[in-house]
Amino acid sequence: MTIIAVDGPSGSGKSSVSREVSRRLGLAYLDTGAMYRAVSWICLERQADGADAVAELARTADLRISTDPDHEQVVIDGHDVTTEIRETRISESVTIVSTNLAAREALIARQRALIEAAAETGIVAEGRDITTVVAPDADVRLLLTAREEARLARRAKELHGEADEHNIASTRAQIIDRDAADSAVTQFITASDGVHTLDSSALSFEETVQAVLDLVADAG
Ligand code: DC
Repeated sequence: MTIIAVDGPSGSGKSSVSREVSRRLGLAYLDTGAMYRAVSWICLERQADGADAVAELARTADLRISTDPDHEQVVIDGHDVTTEIRETRISESVTIVSTNLAAREALIARQRALIEAAAETGIVAEGRDITTVVAPDADVRLLLTAREEARLARRAKELHGEADEHNIASTRAQIIDRDAADSAVTQFITASDGVHTLDSSALSFEETVQAVLDLVADAG
């Protein structure tokens, strides 16, 4: 089976690039960040108080995520949260889950099971610790990066429709702070041994997708 593992910081384009690569290759697609976001959603909903309560929800919540790249859906304890997990309140609170080591352990086990379940089709899985922890034996392991200015401009455009100075400043707080918090528990700023690095700062979306497809072809 083909497993393609992609990590990278916020705004590196890893979600959209990974989704497109999975479409082109007919593979399943797993957005592990969406799982952290869904647990964060249920923690807010249940007003989970403290690290143990957060870890308990990561272990026990009924979490379903579609691995069809053309059908994005995340359901937690019966609530379809596909859209809500992209809200700013979730982006701002998700580090309560991502920096909780027991919650990570529970989500990593779920992610491995989802990758295993896609054994027949193969899968592109993306996040922060896929190349190093979740699927270190993946056939292709890639760290997708971009310079900070490029990442900020992309995310500001995504969030606000335009990357002017004001939007970039408000985005900076959100993504740079979050990446700094997450870096304390998982390593996605520089590539680990055997992991390819692709810097997309100067590449278009299509060029980045093509570069990943070339890497997969070389590995095959
Ligand atoms: O990629 P994203 O912005 O949707 O990720 C949401 C949060 O979850 C972000 O703080 C990084 C964290 N995350 C993680 O720690 N490990 C992963 N495998 C995926 C995401």
